[in-house]
Amino acid sequence: MAYGFLLFLFFSSIMSTHIHACNQTDRSSLMSFILTLSSLSFNWTSDNCCQWKGIACDQDSRVTHLLLPSKGLKGGMFPSSLANLTHLTHLNLSHNSLFGSLDTQFFVTLNRLEILDLSYNLLSGELPFSLPSSNNIQKLDLSSNHFHGAIPSSFFHQASKLTSFNVSNNTFTGYIPSSICLKHSSPFLRLLDFSSNEFSGNLAPGLGDCSELLVFRAGRNNLSGLLPEDIYNATKLEEISLPLNSLYGAISDKIVNLTNLAILNLLFNHLGSELPLNFGKLSKLKYVNLDFNNLEGYLPPSLMNCTNLEELHVQSNNLEGDISMLDFSRLSQLTKLDIRLNNFTGMFPISLYSCRSLKAIRLSNNHLEGQIQVDILSLKSLSFLSLGFNRFTNITGAMKILMSCKSLHTLLLTGSFKGEGMPGDDDMADIDGFQNLRALSFAECQLTGQIPIWLSKLNKLEILLLGSNQITGPIPSWLGALPRLYHVSLPKNRISGEFPKQLCRLPRLVSEASQDDTSYEFELPFFLGPIITNPSYYLSSKLSSYPAMIDLSENNIGGEIPNEIGQLQHLRMLRLGYNNFFGVIPDQISNLKNLEVLSLSMNHLSGIIPSSLESLNFLKEFNVSYNNLKGPIPTSTQLQSFDASAFEGNPNLCGAPLPNECGRPNKVIEEDNNNNKDEGNGHQLPWFYISSVVLGFIVGFWGVFGYLIFNKRWRYA
Ligand SMILES: *[C@@H]1O[C@H](CO)[C@@H](O)[C@H](O)[C@H]1NC(C)=O
Ligand SMILES: *[C@@H]1O[C@H](CO)[C@@H](O)[C@H](O)[C@H]1NC(C)=O
Ligand SMILES: *[C@@H]1O[C@H](CO)[C@@H](O)[C@H](O)[C@H]1NC(C)=O
Ligand SMILES: *[C@@H]1O[C@H](CO)[C@@H](O)[C@H](O)[C@H]1NC(C)=O
Ligand SMILES: *[C@@H]1O[C@H](CO)[C@@H](O)[C@H](O)[C@H]1NC(C)=O
Ligand SMILES: *[C@@H]1O[C@H](CO)[C@@H](O)[C@H](O)[C@H]1NC(C)=O
Ligand SMILES: *[C@@H]1O[C@H](CO)[C@@H](O)[C@H](O)[C@H]1NC(C)=O
Ligand SMILES: *[C@@H]1O[C@H](CO)[C@@H](O)[C@H](O)[C@H]1NC(C)=O
Ligand SMILES: *[C@@H]1O[C@H](CO)[C@@H](O)[C@H](O)[C@H]1NC(C)=O
Ligand SMILES: *[C@@H]1O[C@H](CO)[C@@H](O)[C@H](O)[C@H]1NC(C)=O
Ligand SMILES: *[C@@H]1O[C@H](CO)[C@@H](O)[C@H](O)[C@H]1NC(C)=O
Ligand SMILES: *[C@@H]1O[C@H](CO)[C@@H](O)[C@H](O)[C@H]1NC(C)=O
Repeated sequence: MAYGFLLFLFFSSIMSTHIHACNQTDRSSLMSFILTLSSLSFNWTSDNCCQWKGIACDQDSRVTHLLLPSKGLKGGMFPSSLANLTHLTHLNLSHNSLFGSLDTQFFVTLNRLEILDLSYNLLSGELPFSLPSSNNIQKLDLSSNHFHGAIPSSFFHQASKLTSFNVSNNTFTGYIPSSICLKHSSPFLRLLDFSSNEFSGNLAPGLGDCSELLVFRAGRNNLSGLLPEDIYNATKLEEISLPLNSLYGAISDKIVNLTNLAILNLLFNHLGSELPLNFGKLSKLKYVNLDFNNLEGYLPPSLMNCTNLEELHVQSNNLEGDISMLDFSRLSQLTKLDIRLNNFTGMFPISLYSCRSLKAIRLSNNHLEGQIQVDILSLKSLSFLSLGFNRFTNITGAMKILMSCKSLHTLLLTGSFKGEGMPGDDDMADIDGFQNLRALSFAECQLTGQIPIWLSKLNKLEILLLGSNQITGPIPSWLGALPRLYHVSLPKNRISGEFPKQLCRLPRLVSEASQDDTSYEFELPFFLGPIITNPSYYLSSKLSSYPAMIDLSENNIGGEIPNEIGQLQHLRMLRLGYNNFFGVIPDQISNLKNLEVLSLSMNHLSGIIPSSLESLNFLKEFNVSYNNLKGPIPTSTQLQSFDASAFEGNPNLCGAPLPNECGRPNKVIEEDNNNNKDEGNGHQLPWFYISSVVLGFIVGFWGVFGYLIFNKRWRYA
């Protein structure tokens, strides 16, 4: 680096006697600019600065363009070092690491600037109160920096040429500026992006004057109040994106005046009442996301006239009506339909079978009934199908059909098909289907029968959810041979037998080599937890948001926990509670260096807690309560950090966090425990057990895995 600068100084000194093709004031200005930077990956050495990388000049050899995006520039003297480049019209330094702030003087001296792109830097400070009257700015992109403070409407009042203003992903506060498109202000604004800041309060009227406005984004803020009526006067609007705010009230009938509207994203607000009946007059609509609002009434039939519609998301509202009465057949572009968590009734809409572009259908948590028709196979691109928590019937029929659906990656039938038999091996004979299935859920269906052997042919299966059924019989040993399986959830069944040693060979959990391909995203996001602060944190499409897990809790599984368990190095959650395991806790569990949850409570485990468990550094939840463990609790920062209730119900266990010290047997506790023996075997949840789980969860854990405790129902559908 230092060498580069020496070279640079050397060249400039020997060439200073030659004729200059670039203005020397500009040249020294550029030099002083790079001298403020601590890293340079390019080579500004020649005398003619107009030929330097990223520079362009006008006929007078004045520098007009300085374009150095993504050049790894780091430095803090920005922007004062550029103040002498008075003819600059284009400045693009996006995706660097510049810090500093923009004052009024910057815009005064660089008043010819038309394009200013400083996005993705470390700039901070507030925006000037107003721009100089002589400014020429057209595009201003300050997004993804650390700017703060309010943006006064006056900022726009001299910005008569401004067409694009992007301040997204900063920490601006106060109101979204209004009256920004008045005649003397910025009448030509086309793009406005205020998203991902801390703006609050109502959206004041004013946007209606923005007659050229195409894109308005202000999502991920703290906006409240109604959608201002005059927004419907900005008739050129193609996109309105205001997700993750607290807007309420209705979407007005006047929205049909926005005939160019293609994107309407109002995800996560409090919008209520009914959708406008003539909504479907918005014939250019492509993407509609009204998820997580309080909309009521029916989906307007006119929507079925929006032949350009690609995605329709209305999950978690109070919509109702017979969904099969809607004729989806004209929506040939439709790729995603999500109506989860509403009050829709009727059958699976037959007309959907003709929407040949469909990739994702989620109808879960409604009151739908009937059977899946073979016509679903005409949806050749269908990759995600979620039908859970409805009253669909004939799961065997559904599976026999769906197994021929070649493109299917995700099939979630959670909480539907209640009380039927598990689709058996006879039904699924000569299965060559489901060859691309990655996630399968029959959870909470109360299905009877055993874990069927046809599952062993699902070579791409990664997530298997069979919890809360009435499954009997043992865990088949072939489960451990499924090459991609890493999330096995079988709790709350009547599974018997032992923990098969073969399960300890699951390739994905054993070998480093199988850890590839964690980037897969579901076609539709899952909701990962309770909405407390910013709900966006809890929406995830990532397959990897399902942790590596084996959950066998609340079954009748007996025998010893195999020593081979230590091979499952990538395991993050192991839940074996409420079974009949006996023998000792294998020392080898301490090989599971990634373990975050270890729950062995309510079994008959005996012996000591292996001292090697001290080495498990990532444990966030731990429970060995109600076993027959004895001896001192190994001392480690981890184990002592759990509540005493995690160890309770083991009469001969001693040491912190339990109250009884080691070497001083506590008679009272011993007696207590004898009385509790039955409780330990039965499947009751003592209140302190619950409270310890909930407490541990609130203290630092819930952000990651809280959903598994609180929100299973939401998650798997
Ligand atoms: C360089 O620009 C300055 C203004 O910053 C001007 O005064 C000077 O005349 C220019 N030099 C040449 C050689 O054009
Ligand atoms: C800008 O020009 C002035 C006057 O020529 C000079 O004093 C100052 O050092 C220059 N600043 C930079 C950063 O080049
Ligand atoms: C830097 O520029 C000089 C002169 O243009 C050239 O000779 C040299 O090869 C360049 N060095 C690098 C590393 O590009
Ligand atoms: C700035 O440069 C980046 C990278 O080339 C480009 O993507 C971006 O569009 C440019 N900004 C403007 C306003 O042209
Ligand atoms: C604003 O900038 C962000 C990047 O920081 C980009 O993702 C977004 O698309 C831009 N908004 C508009 C309207 O172009
Ligand atoms: C938001 O800005 C931060 C830097 O401040 C950046 O790391 C992040 O990628 C940006 N987010 C988006 C969505 O552009
Ligand atoms: C959001 O706005 C409400 C009032 O509308 C205010 O009470 C609350 O503190 C704000 N929250 C944040 C995080 O700014
Ligand atoms: C919308 O525009 C019409 C016609 O220009 C005007 O009469 C009306 O007042 C405007 N509505 C709002 C809410 O500004
Ligand atoms: C809707 O558009 C019509 C015709 O373009 C116009 O007369 C009417 O004022 C507009 N309504 C609103 C609310 O802007
Ligand atoms: C759909 O559009 C046709 C004309 O294109 C119209 O006749 C029909 O009434 C519309 N349907 C609905 C439900 O709006
Ligand atoms: C469905 O309707 C019932 C009453 O008919 C209501 O209690 C319930 O909250 C509604 N559910 C949803 C998700 O809207
Ligand atoms: C279940 O579905 C299959 C396949 O569609 C069908 O053949 C069978 O008759 C159905 N069974 C019942 C009881 O409806």
